[in-house]
Amino acid sequence: MAFATRHFVRAASSDAATAAAKKLLIKHVTIIGGGLMGAGIAQVAAASGHTVVLVDQSDEILKKSTKGIEESLKRVTKKKFADKPEAGAEFIKKTLKNLTTSTDAASVVHSTDLVIEAIVENLEVKNELFKTLDKFAPEHTIFASNTSSLQITKMANATTRQDRFGGLHFFNPVPMMKLVEVIKTPMTSQKTFESLVDFSKAVGKSPVSCKDTPGFIVNRLLVPYMMEAVRLFERGDASKEDIDVAMKLGAGYPMGPFELLDYVGLDTSKYIIDGWHSLEPNNPLFAPSPLLNKLVEEKKLGKKTGEGFYKYK
Ligand code: NAI
Repeated sequence: MAFATRHFVRAASSDAATAAAKKLLIKHVTIIGGGLMGAGIAQVAAASGHTVVLVDQSDEILKKSTKGIEESLKRVTKKKFADKPEAGAEFIKKTLKNLTTSTDAASVVHSTDLVIEAIVENLEVKNELFKTLDKFAPEHTIFASNTSSLQITKMANATTRQDRFGGLHFFNPVPMMKLVEVIKTPMTSQKTFESLVDFSKAVGKSPVSCKDTPGFIVNRLLVPYMMEAVRLFERGDASKEDIDVAMKLGAGYPMGPFELLDYVGLDTSKYIIDGWHSLEPNNPLFAPSPLLNKLVEEKKLGKKTGEGFYKYK
């Protein structure tokens, strides 16, 4: 028995060593979508020494993304290199050197190890993108989606690389938030999963893993909470300001639910709740909100458009 246990332990550790040896060391990353999330992911990947190409639909958008990254890097550097401004300037220079932009995803994925998709939260649009990139990316390339609410399995099925497909769910603002949820579908290979975990650590994050279930861990708990806050406000039970103060001072949350909704983006939140509502129409936690729908219709999407539940300069 003792021999069997020893033998098992040896076999298991040599299996782990073999799996580790086979893991893909990710050096070159392509990020599709230079919005709130994509720009943040590009920043942390470039800052940690990866070669990064950031892709979006127009040069104008990419200019805005790059400007945002430069400003964010300055903020990070001010804190990180408070006493060493020269080292800080060098860090910014090095990071920006690792980053290029493009409006043509198909032409830049030929030498990439990892594609991270952070475009609009719409399954058809994402599937169309993955289907195209599948034709142009090399065989070894891993595809990952940063989706907040869509099924990773459905996107993987739009490609021929289901085993090299997973979820990498970063949090906003990416440079500040330490968590990444690494999502494994039933088809994601162990090698892919471990490569994604290693990449998350390499960009300075703490990965947790979750199966491909609605909302994974954080959003499955957080989104119903934010929707309940909107319903409380819609019923006229309390003002949004008081609800925010209450949750900050009474529950110790760093932001109130309306501040958080504005930060996340009201369109993203609407996509999430609409998607879950269509999956489970009788679940009251997933019921849509007329007020949220109205604000999205008026293009009041939160901080990114200057107005959501609150107004921003
Ligand atoms: P965003 O609206 O700020 O940015 C999306 C960007 O994708 C835009 O710049 C748009 O021009 C670009 N885009 C759209 N279609 C494209 C295409 N076919 N090719 C290239 N670029 C394209 O959205 P955000 O907030 O960055 O969200 C992106 C993804 O990340 C979504 O799937 C969302 O669910 C997810 N996510 C969002 C979080 C948040 O707090 N906002 C948190 C975690 C995940």
